[in-house]
Amino acid sequence: MSSLKFFYSRLRTEEKQLFKAAEKLGIPFEFIDVRSLVWPDVDISPGDVAVGRVVSQTQNQAICQLLESKGVRTVNPSSVVALCGDKVATAAALDNAGIPQPPYRVAFSPDEAILASEQLGYPVVFKPPVGSWGRLLAKMNDRDAVEALVEHKSYMGPQHQVFFIQKYIEKDGWDLRATVIGGKPVTAIRRCSEHWITNTARGARAEGFPLDSILINILKKVHGAIGGDVLAVDLFQTRDGWLLNEVNGQPEFRSSIETTGVDLPELIVNHAWSLVSRD
Ligand SMILES: Nc1ncnc2c1ncn2[C@@H]1O[C@H](COP(=O)(O)OP(=O)(O)O)[C@@H](O)[C@H]1O
Ligand SMILES: [Mg+2]
Repeated sequence: MSSLKFFYSRLRTEEKQLFKAAEKLGIPFEFIDVRSLVWPDVDISPGDVAVGRVVSQTQNQAICQLLESKGVRTVNPSSVVALCGDKVATAAALDNAGIPQPPYRVAFSPDEAILASEQLGYPVVFKPPVGSWGRLLAKMNDRDAVEALVEHKSYMGPQHQVFFIQKYIEKDGWDLRATVIGGKPVTAIRRCSEHWITNTARGARAEGFPLDSILINILKKVHGAIGGDVLAVDLFQTRDGWLLNEVNGQPEFRSSIETTGVDLPELIVNHAWSLVSRD
């Protein structure tokens, strides 16, 4: 019989919640620690659905690609893991879909990165194309700082030679984190912090936020542009409307549960289970 297979590397709160939800719903499932497997020695059949919950984005993408090569449907599909894992690719996809986002530039040399920052106007935010939890983000308030940063980056790996630069958006101490499951917007929270980086992993306070029709429309457009089963979408509210900051394809969602009362683990497990082949 087909079942749900959860691939993980660390049992975070989210993985424990997914485990409990699957148990409560009486769905056949198994948790597989990627650190203890060697491909292709994995007990999986094409009718199964695999939920990719590996912390490392690179590892999550790899295991999803391998599983897909055997005809297994993964949540999210590996193409969505790859797209969301890369801020440059996400920005391009959002542009093509006409979804407003903070003005940005992508440069490939330190000199052009300095020029692009000047064009955008300070402050600007430099981000590694691949990353999360606010790591290695740099808010630059003037040219001197940018010159130092790009010089430091030139001694880092090839990833840091793609300069993704966004205009800093005044966001009044918070940004919005919305969750979309199976194409349906289901929750939104405000993440509030004294610091300009408002990830809850960095100590921001979360509170529920109502999903109105404007937000629902934007989130559906985002899903249309990115695809996928489980998306966490970060937005900034501005006087001219919402700006889309980034889309996460393997989110930590614990802060969205108590604050909204929505049982996200159950929604995710039910959605994944609906994809399982019953032939
Ligand atoms: N352009 C920006 N303007 C204002 N704040 C920003 C900007 N970019 C990022 N931030 C802040 O930094 C946080 C982390 O940035 P994000 O792009 O989501 O990277 P990560 O993948 O590390 O979460 C955001 O939630 C927001 O609080
Ligand atoms: Mg983020």
